[in-house]
Amino acid sequence: MAPRFNFLLHAFLSLALATTSFSLSPKFYDNVCPQALPAIKKVVEAAVHREPRMGASLLRLHFHDCFVNGCEGSLLLDSSSAFETEKNGRGNFNSVRGFEVVDQIKAVVDRVCGRPMVSCADILAVVARDSVVVLGGPTWKVRLGRRDSTTASRALADSVLPSASMDLPALISNFKNQGLNKRDLVALSGGHTIGLSQCVIFRNMIYNATNIDPVFAKERRATCSRTGGNTNLAPFDPTPARFDTAYFKNLVKERGLLTSDQALFNDGSTDKLVETYNKNPNAFWVDFGKSMIKMGNIKPLTRNQVQIRNVN
Ligand code: HEM
Ligand SMILES: *[C@@H]1O[C@H](CO)[C@@H](O)[C@H](O)[C@H]1NC(C)=O
Repeated sequence: MAPRFNFLLHAFLSLALATTSFSLSPKFYDNVCPQALPAIKKVVEAAVHREPRMGASLLRLHFHDCFVNGCEGSLLLDSSSAFETEKNGRGNFNSVRGFEVVDQIKAVVDRVCGRPMVSCADILAVVARDSVVVLGGPTWKVRLGRRDSTTASRALADSVLPSASMDLPALISNFKNQGLNKRDLVALSGGHTIGLSQCVIFRNMIYNATNIDPVFAKERRATCSRTGGNTNLAPFDPTPARFDTAYFKNLVKERGLLTSDQALFNDGSTDKLVETYNKNPNAFWVDFGKSMIKMGNIKPLTRNQVQIRNVN
């Protein structure tokens, strides 16, 4: 083949590959397994009914999956000879939970579909949305068709997950690295309208911070002493099992539980947005859904790189 023709052919093939590159769709399982999504929803509803906190824990799993090398189910993999599990990573270890529920859902979905068809990454994305809905929050159309990674990285989990001690510039840059902007940061931090945190995580905030309501700090110190009770839990806002705007109301009153929460309302560039979400639940709901879709799009892997994982 003449070199020139070869070059053109190559260019054509690259273009064809790029334009047929994999994209996610809400209808991905509609024809191949229409029972999948209703089955997932049922298990989530039962799990959250049993323990309301589970909704929060499940939402967080999708976030921690997506931030570490894209939404590809790596968080669910246990250690092997090839890698150490992300579950041991900073931000995950002794903190993320809900894996039994995900395993249960995977088994149910494989059964109703007749074979392993729905990826673990997709399950996490659907479960996150269903959890928010069960707890009274907004809904959105989850884009589907992710494939599961065969590998995981504890080191990457250590380095990319945002930490509770981050200030606003650090949070903005952490989200920017994932292709997420300031609006995504504030909207998605609203995920803390549900769930709980451990004393060891927020101790420094309630004993040392100056941007905290002293009455609130005193309240929290009652169940989180200077030295003991590391695993004692406290809610991020007064309604930890309701997806509402109380999280933002709290921030405006300097009742943020983590340094990274109050950082969003601390005389900085995100104050205005916090006030908007506090006053306008609908604005928060719309933006939360949009940002969840954006987060769910972080680097989805293409078909040939990956697998549809089986249970264990
Ligand atoms: C902005 C940066 C973020 C930081 C620094 C952060 C940090 C944390 C920390 C430290 C905890 C408590 C862990 C513990 O005490 O064991 C937590 C819990 C939680 N996070 Fe975040 N988070 C962030 C963003 C998000 C996002 C984007 C979401 C989801 C959209 C989310 C959802 C949750 C939920 C629902 C819980 C409670 C989980 C439960 O009760 O089991 N967080 N987060
Ligand atoms: C408060 O800050 C000091 C100085 O950084 C630190 O040594 C101390 O451990 C902090 N106290 C708590 C309860 O976190």
